[in-house]
Amino acid sequence: MSLKFSDEATSKLEVLYGRYPSKQPVILAALHLAQKEFGDLRDEVIELVGSTLDLSVAHVYGVATFYTMFRRQSGGTNTLRVCTNVACMLRGGYEVLRSFESKLGLKVGESNADFSLVEEECIAACANAPAVVCGTKYFLDVTPEMVSEIVDYLKANPHPESEVA
Ligand code: FES
Repeated sequence: MSLKFSDEATSKLEVLYGRYPSKQPVILAALHLAQKEFGDLRDEVIELVGSTLDLSVAHVYGVATFYTMFRRQSGGTNTLRVCTNVACMLRGGYEVLRSFESKLGLKVGESNADFSLVEEECIAACANAPAVVCGTKYFLDVTPEMVSEIVDYLKANPHPESEVA
């Protein structure tokens, strides 16, 4: 295996190991760090996380593919997560999603250099539905008319998901 965590990521993981009786509870943090360092969680990254935490590849793969914040393939600089869960759906979430598709020339699940477009479950901003999140930046009470402005803002001020880790 050729991949290795950086010294910084290794130090962070070692601090986290001290909080638990085994390395297993560190898996989400390790996956975030791995995605930040390597851009995605392709097979060799999954193997690295497994060997680092003494977990099977199947276990790590199961966690990495359960949560939508982890990606198996590299995407655009910004990952737009457009919520279409109940509150957002009732207040126009699908119209917002279609507007992003039109503006970006992407279908849900597709990427270009600047953006990946994801249809997301609840992102905990229901009071301001429809909501969209990109990295740590939330966009609230979004309307289709706001989509152009959001895209232009993110092109000028990228919010990569790596800022979450
Ligand atoms: S349903 Fe969209 S943020 Fe909760």
